[in-house]
Amino acid sequence: MVGVLNWLGGPHTRVWQSTLGPLRTSAGAVTVRPIRSRDGAIWSELRTRNEKTLVPWEPTGIGSWVQRHHRSQWGPLYSALKSEARRGTVLPYVIELDGQYVGQLTVGNIQRGAVRSAWIGYWIDSDHFGGGIATAAVALGVDHCFGRVGLHRLDATVQPANEASQAVLKKVGFRTEGLLERYMDVDSRWRDHLLFALTVEDLPGTAVEALVRSGRASY
Ligand code: ACO
Repeated sequence: MVGVLNWLGGPHTRVWQSTLGPLRTSAGAVTVRPIRSRDGAIWSELRTRNEKTLVPWEPTGIGSWVQRHHRSQWGPLYSALKSEARRGTVLPYVIELDGQYVGQLTVGNIQRGAVRSAWIGYWIDSDHFGGGIATAAVALGVDHCFGRVGLHRLDATVQPANEASQAVLKKVGFRTEGLLERYMDVDSRWRDHLLFALTVEDLPGTAVEALVRSGRASY
């Protein structure tokens, strides 16, 4: 029975505790590490400061952006994410640049059994846009998901107008599979999203190796 459960790929409840990287980019060293209870102050500061760049792409929430990202909201959010992580359904990470919190990477809806898939999402502080940070973080996340986590497929949904995010996914090797019409409630309207996907077969080696070979990152 144990063998069958392993073959089905889970549950691996401690995989979220791994730190991934570092991987060097033009901006500096990128590391992906588990969220911490003491991330509240910086999470609140960056999310509040980045309202304009995040609102067009993020799910609609209840209450104002500032209220939802008040420092006091981190405790409940952290607890909810940690409990999902322990159940093996979410991998909640912080993206660090040279040891500083600059964004988040989340792998959600982790499904085991015959599907072994999840979605991946991310955001970066606008002060650090364009330095290859998100691309490096996604590549590290992909390799972890297809490695220790034991997944076979990752999905990413992106609005057609979000060209920066599409560029990130393409650099890591994701393919477009189609348009999901009125897929998600974002900024108070149902928005179409492009479905990007990557399966183990799409990568000849690892995502990090491919990024290094392309000259976009180094060890
Ligand atoms: N049109 C076309 N390409 C663009 C544009 C644009 N308007 N803006 C940026 N790019 C390109 C850059 O040139 C770069 O590609 P290149 O390396 O080939 O030149 C690429 O987009 C960005 O790559 P990175 O530097 O690795 O990404 P960055 O660290 O800047 O982060 C991110 C990208 C995460 C999309 C950031 O802009 C962000 O946080 N945006 C707001 C939140 C968001 O959109 N999150 C993603 C939601 S979708 C999802 O999670 C699946």
